[in-house]
Amino acid sequence: MMRDVLLKTAEAERAVKDEKKHSIRICTAASCLSCGAEKVRKAIAEKVKAAGREDTAVAGVGCMGLCAKGPLVTVDGPETMYAEVTEEDAADIAASLDNGPVERIRCDTTTPFFQRQEKIVLENCDRINPERIEDYIAADGYLALTTAVLERQPFDIVDEIVRSGLRGRGGGGYPTGLKWSTVAKAPGPMKYVICNADEGDPGAFMDRSILECDPHRVLEGMAVAAYAVGASEGYIYIRAEYPLAVKRLKLAIRQAEKMGLLGKNIAGTDFSFSIDIRLGAGAFVCGEETALIASIEGQRGQPMPRPPYPAESGLWDSPTLINNVETFANIAPIIRKGADWYAAIGTETSKGTKVFALAGRINNTGLIEVPMGITLREIVYDIGGGIPDGKAFKAVQTGGPSGGCVPASLAETPIIRSTTNLCRSSDRSWGPAA
Ligand SMILES: Cc1cc2nc3c(=O)[nH]c(=O)nc-3n(C[C@H](O)[C@H](O)[C@H](O)COP(=O)(O)O)c2cc1C
Repeated sequence: MMRDVLLKTAEAERAVKDEKKHSIRICTAASCLSCGAEKVRKAIAEKVKAAGREDTAVAGVGCMGLCAKGPLVTVDGPETMYAEVTEEDAADIAASLDNGPVERIRCDTTTPFFQRQEKIVLENCDRINPERIEDYIAADGYLALTTAVLERQPFDIVDEIVRSGLRGRGGGGYPTGLKWSTVAKAPGPMKYVICNADEGDPGAFMDRSILECDPHRVLEGMAVAAYAVGASEGYIYIRAEYPLAVKRLKLAIRQAEKMGLLGKNIAGTDFSFSIDIRLGAGAFVCGEETALIASIEGQRGQPMPRPPYPAESGLWDSPTLINNVETFANIAPIIRKGADWYAAIGTETSKGTKVFALAGRINNTGLIEVPMGITLREIVYDIGGGIPDGKAFKAVQTGGPSGGCVPASLAETPIIRSTTNLCRSSDRSWGPAA
């Protein structure tokens, strides 16, 4: 039944989109909004309306990546992208639907910044409105969850994640499937799933961007995880400094509950799972899982020695699965496309892609996603466009306070885990490495 509702919603959405000849998308993630994207969106919508162009859809979407050049706008797909757009450009953009691209503000999308990326986690970001569940459903959203609960057994889902080779993106790189199977096997009437969205590392905005741009993807990943491990309650621990992400998450939770995709009897089955949000006050240490759990419990956010690991005894002493935002964001595509597809991307020991936030003294500041195994030099020079003013590349800070710097001499080493982990060797974040 629920499957039919999803398919019908997706069909209806696609039909509305197909009716339109043109689509203009404006990035409405935090970075572009901070330099005027909302005014640009309104101005373009007005000009398109004034021109009587009912054949054109104007929509705010998620991050388009090249934050250095915001506000960013695309017309009829990512190939025609405009950079540093102002309200004054709105008339020209509306007119371009007949006259051809506005070369004056056009952004070259044939550069390595765009061409060297491979998007799984960020696949929807530049094309869906994060505030509409219908947009997510039209992009195959919630198919993974409904397939899981209607057609597959929990152990089968755990096995798929094990075979995918996905490792946690929160820093420790612990094999996700192994963690899930430990929680699934742990006895107890009550189990929890926690999404770690604390993201305290200075300059990092991967998790914030994922939540701002595609919140349903994270909710779906958490719900699939809950089904796999036998949990019925979930929490997203997110820092209060991320108001836009919090706003969009709250909206997404309400929308998913309304459609029966979260809450009681998901998709008409016996499986129930609810998600609540807990705001962190910005203490870096609260990103560490035991401190985070203490903080949710209302205690001082202070790490505790392990064992016991959260998988055995976590939130309120119950078995708890805790994963990072980006880890959960990988789940739906793995279930939809299969473990073999995912395991073919990346390196022998580290599968899939990694999202990076490029910040500081680099030309192309922004949000990127690249296959595991890429080198730091390729990120800095090919995708990042090098150092401003031709200055020398000396080092990169890859982690937060518990991380450190990677000198330029190590820039050829393939990256096989998340940025923070390059330096955070002390973070045996979950248990003995597999
Ligand atoms: C000091 C410290 C800070 C941490 N901060 C974060 C954080 O902000 N986000 C995160 O996902 N993991 C953080 N971690 C790692 C978590 O303890 C935990 O390993 C992670 O959330 C597990 O998710 P994963 O298996 O999906 O990587 C931190 C660890 C330490 C030691």
